[in-house]
Amino acid sequence: MPERIDPWGSSVYENYERLIKEFGISPMSDLVDMLPRPHRFFTRGIIFGHRGFEVVLGAIRRGEEFVVLTGFSPSGSVHFGHKMTFEQIAYYQSLGADAIITIADLEALAARGMSLNKGYEIGVNEYVRAAIALGLNPEKTEFYFQSKRKDILDMAIYFATKVKIGEMSSIYGFSESTSVGHVMVPLIQAGDILHVQWKRYTPRPTIVPVGVDQDPHIRLSRDLVNRSRVLNVRLFKEGIMITLSDRNKRDLLEKTERALRDHGYNDLDVNIPYGVIKIYGAAGEDEYVIERIITSIERPMNDYALFKPSATYHRLMRGLTGAKMSSSKPETAIFLTDDIEEAKKKILRAVTGGRVTAEEQRKYGGNPDICPVYELYAYHLISDDAELLKIREECLKGERLCGYCKKEAAERLEELLNDIQEKMSAIDDKIIREVVRYD
Ligand code: TRP
Ligand code: SF4
Repeated sequence: MPERIDPWGSSVYENYERLIKEFGISPMSDLVDMLPRPHRFFTRGIIFGHRGFEVVLGAIRRGEEFVVLTGFSPSGSVHFGHKMTFEQIAYYQSLGADAIITIADLEALAARGMSLNKGYEIGVNEYVRAAIALGLNPEKTEFYFQSKRKDILDMAIYFATKVKIGEMSSIYGFSESTSVGHVMVPLIQAGDILHVQWKRYTPRPTIVPVGVDQDPHIRLSRDLVNRSRVLNVRLFKEGIMITLSDRNKRDLLEKTERALRDHGYNDLDVNIPYGVIKIYGAAGEDEYVIERIITSIERPMNDYALFKPSATYHRLMRGLTGAKMSSSKPETAIFLTDDIEEAKKKILRAVTGGRVTAEEQRKYGGNPDICPVYELYAYHLISDDAELLKIREECLKGERLCGYCKKEAAERLEELLNDIQEKMSAIDDKIIREVVRYD
């Protein structure tokens, strides 16, 4: 188990329950039933954790505005790990969200030395095209490039004034020999996440669907909101507490008290001189209402009066070779643009959770929980839960042998890839031009 979650590391995470316990991530299972038409990633526990999802849920269930923001560091072709994120964006769009997607070309430059031109080319030709083929609604989708959007950098510099080097080092394990470019990456990402509520936009709940490796960036972004706001929200045992960080702005707290009462929150303990309001009994989606109240009260005097961003974390698919899935190692992942025969071969060559011999497999069964082939079924190839469960049980009982199982997966993959590739080649460049923004 890693001592910290590392966005640039190569660990394959095994024990997600421990991530919840040790890193203070909230379990998703508590909230899944409240979602309208939950995507299979939710019902199957693939999206296993979150931070602050109650705030987004509050907006969803009231039919109010929210935004989904996520990003991709352009590395190469789009693989099935990226596909997971695109599907989640499409899901939130179906619930009314605006979708804003960053192509992290500055990150690719700072962390991997990729030129901005190359980042642009990969961004448009691979990621934007894939997004539309995978069902994003072009009318509600906006792609932008980090390097072209000044707000991102303005925010990053502002946030840089709020974080000390020592803190960055302890979050990310940076050392004396880390490049300063690398140190900037999380601040730029905070700019991505928070600018969707900034100048050209308005404060609103923001959901950031990401793999769990991105958790440090999310925590940092949530912290930066706390440090930049005058009114803050904290949970305590009996409810939710609002605190004021600047004693000279007591009028904001007085306004907040009135707004809370207008919204029917009357079980309050108000201590204006101390800068605290306690709202007893408030929980869950009340956090949405309260964040909305305080951001609208504070916004006229502070551009940084933003909602704390929310995030969900999905499991990271295992690579087909057992190593972490990676764009730079084509044998570890299925890419949307893979030659179909080649992709099928990747599955047939994949490691599995099976036993060494067929005999042992029949006797002891396989282990779907460590099997990348099973993950392909669960994440991408099978939409029917009962069918998936059947495969799982057959595997566990030794009634299913890996050779057969891989062949079946390869056939299903062929169908899926055919469909995606057809859609990708049918996309008109005009649509691509419409979803890409240049500032
Ligand atoms: N760091 C992310 C990755 O490596 C990419 C990214 C950049 C991102 N900005 C973002 C993800 C904002 C979510 C939100 O994949
Ligand atoms: Fe994986 Fe299928 Fe083998 Fe089970 S039978 S271990 S699911 S390949």
